[in-house]
Amino acid sequence: MTVDNKMLRMGVAGCGRMGQIHINNMLDMRFITVTAVCSVIKAELDWALNTIDGVVTFEDFDDFIDSDRFDAVLIVTPGNLHHDQVIAAMHHGKHVFCEKPLSTDAKSAWNIYYESLQFPDLKVCCGLPRRYVTPYVEAARKIRNGDIGKVTTVRSQTTDLRLEGDHFVNYVKNCGGIFVDSCVHDIDACLYLIGEDKTPATAFSTGTTNVWPLFRQFGDVDDGMGLVTFESGDVIMSVYGCRNNPHGHHTMTEIIGTKGRILVNGQPRLFALDISDEKGTYMEAPDTQMTAFGYAFKLEIEAFRDWLLYNTEPNFNLKDAAKAVSIGSALMDSLRKKDLTKVNLY
Ligand SMILES: NC(=O)c1ccc[n+]([C@@H]2O[C@H](COP(=O)([O-])OP(=O)(O)OC[C@H]3O[C@@H](n4cnc5c(N)ncnc54)[C@H](O)[C@@H]3O)[C@@H](O)[C@H]2O)c1
Repeated sequence: MTVDNKMLRMGVAGCGRMGQIHINNMLDMRFITVTAVCSVIKAELDWALNTIDGVVTFEDFDDFIDSDRFDAVLIVTPGNLHHDQVIAAMHHGKHVFCEKPLSTDAKSAWNIYYESLQFPDLKVCCGLPRRYVTPYVEAARKIRNGDIGKVTTVRSQTTDLRLEGDHFVNYVKNCGGIFVDSCVHDIDACLYLIGEDKTPATAFSTGTTNVWPLFRQFGDVDDGMGLVTFESGDVIMSVYGCRNNPHGHHTMTEIIGTKGRILVNGQPRLFALDISDEKGTYMEAPDTQMTAFGYAFKLEIEAFRDWLLYNTEPNFNLKDAAKAVSIGSALMDSLRKKDLTKVNLY
């Protein structure tokens, strides 16, 4: 499918928490227009009709993807639907931006990757926004420039504000596990920073449920730590995930090289402000990653638009997105089996 008149027509499948963030962002962007929205929730379709001029809504994904009102599709549905919907989109000639994770299981994530190779005229990517967060992009640039020598270790964390309520519990129950859902950001950030097509070999993880014993029933944890090796044997990846921060969101990544070290987001800092008063000197933390990295959600969609309209080189890497699901799934297996697991790449 070609994109005409330098205006990208987007269809959006999923209009919940993240879908509405993307739609609101796109409404402010140049050279992009949202022409169709699909959701199984009527109230969300009403929101779309009230928010987007001239949009057409669909309750059924098959009818939506069959529509010729858009050239590219943003898939923002639950992760377990991504595989079938991305494959269907490609077969209907649509370019695809799929939200993370690429899929909730490794085999189907790799199937998306291999299927995409059958459609060389389509641009297909997975949105992992750390690749558009300024300090990560700058760290990658310095690493590529050789500033810290050869990368030997990357360790990364995503720790989230503690949430409550049925919606949060249901989300955790269906998200694929902490390493697939949350630490997939860290895994992908580490792959991006390493910057080479390395083959992961083994994964070991452990975790605790001190705050949410219920998560044990889902085979999940509220605090988890994982260690990943690569076949090349020359780099180590370590990831930590937590769902219980009282202070807000804190994503942090450290890259250690033979000649130096880079620390990204060392402190949970919202703005570059240190505030001093009678309580002492302190900084303010972002509450969620939406606050911390909201601008990156815009940049990744603009990168997708520019890739389609102007053929500019993006930071997306679909193979890494599949690899990240493999690593996350192997870490979840290790957590449940309490043993070292092999990372399956399919
Ligand atoms: N990049 C990030 O940091 C980030 C943050 C949050 C969520 N996400 C990802 O965004 C995706 C959506 O998460 P969310 O929190 O917005 O979920 P949500 O539950 O708020 O929304 C899900 C949407 O999918 C729609 N949907 C469900 N089944 C459907 C079907 N069969 N056909 C069409 N639409 C269907 C629902 O109607 C709803 O609009 C997930 O993959 C999640 O991992 C990414």
